[in-house]
Amino acid sequence: SSLLPSADILLARRVQELALNHEQPAHLYISRNDDDDDEPRRDGIPSEIPVIDLSKASPSDTDPSHDHRQELHNLRSALSEWGCFQAIGHGVPSSCLDEARRVTREFFQLPMDEKKKVAKGVEEMEGYGADPVPAKGQFLDWSDRLYVEVFPEHRRKPEFWPENPPSFRVMLEDYMTKMRMMTEQVSRAMARSLDLEDDCFLDLFGKGALLQGRFNYYSPCPRPDLILGLKPHTDGTSFTVIMQDAEGLQVMRENRWITVPTKPDTLLVLMGDQMEIMSNGIFKPPLHRVLTHSHGDRISIAAFYSPEPHKEIGPADGLINEARPKAYKNMKDYADIHWGYYQKGSRAIHEAKV
Ligand code: SIN
Ligand code: FE2
Repeated sequence: SSLLPSADILLARRVQELALNHEQPAHLYISRNDDDDDEPRRDGIPSEIPVIDLSKASPSDTDPSHDHRQELHNLRSALSEWGCFQAIGHGVPSSCLDEARRVTREFFQLPMDEKKKVAKGVEEMEGYGADPVPAKGQFLDWSDRLYVEVFPEHRRKPEFWPENPPSFRVMLEDYMTKMRMMTEQVSRAMARSLDLEDDCFLDLFGKGALLQGRFNYYSPCPRPDLILGLKPHTDGTSFTVIMQDAEGLQVMRENRWITVPTKPDTLLVLMGDQMEIMSNGIFKPPLHRVLTHSHGDRISIAAFYSPEPHKEIGPADGLINEARPKAYKNMKDYADIHWGYYQKGSRAIHEAKV
């Protein structure tokens, strides 16, 4: 096996370079199982990801109207059954979403040398490249990405903020500011859907809650039957907001992969493991993955929302009672623990279980 290229040698080159050169993908990219079932069977289990109108679910609406209560009820069932929903009425203008898609695409279309001006170091998370070298034997993803921390502001590392295209930094600031407003809106609606104080989760996340942006580029792939854009995983975040410009993302429901439809003004809100802990197990983060396509590329933007670093998190007090005892320990730095497990392809959540 010493004749086969190792992960670190493979990761020295971008997937986009392999794709443009029409190279045969190395075996470490091959991860898709024959028995993966991505055709939802039609046996009564819903195959449509719920749509939630956040303007109706939003607690700023003091009118306890029927619509408001109904939408909160829908939100709670979406998050306990699916662990995700398609958000509409989120307040992020279409022009902001269009601009984010346009400028992200422009960045990935730059020459490689230009993109490498914001290249990450091998062991670093931030910057342009691929995730750090995975644990031995782990499969590689058919994707390139730019990863940057945006909030709180003191964590920004300008050396990873592209200066080209010239509108990138303005877009990044604007898009992530809108994402921050949306994460607060979602946090309040989630709290209200569980009969908690509106700011209950926001207080748990803390003033220094993290918002990180991951701009993903999926090149056309010669073997979509064998190769995934992103391997199956759950997020280690509180929750993640995802925008895509083409189909590819799938979430698992009842052992079937369900495709997230592409609708220009709709954003997917996806629970991470830390919301499972804070909701005392009521909300269930879904396993998800990204498929590749032989024709056409795909971009997506993920905004990762996580509690303030080193802050202890645990189930919200109001969700612990006799019928539902505390199911998770309080813990710190869950995201770091999660990352170690992610690299080994297993889930960290059992570390938190009581
Ligand atoms: C993810 O962040 O897990 C998926 C993002 C995408 O849809 O490409
Ligand atoms: Fe994810």
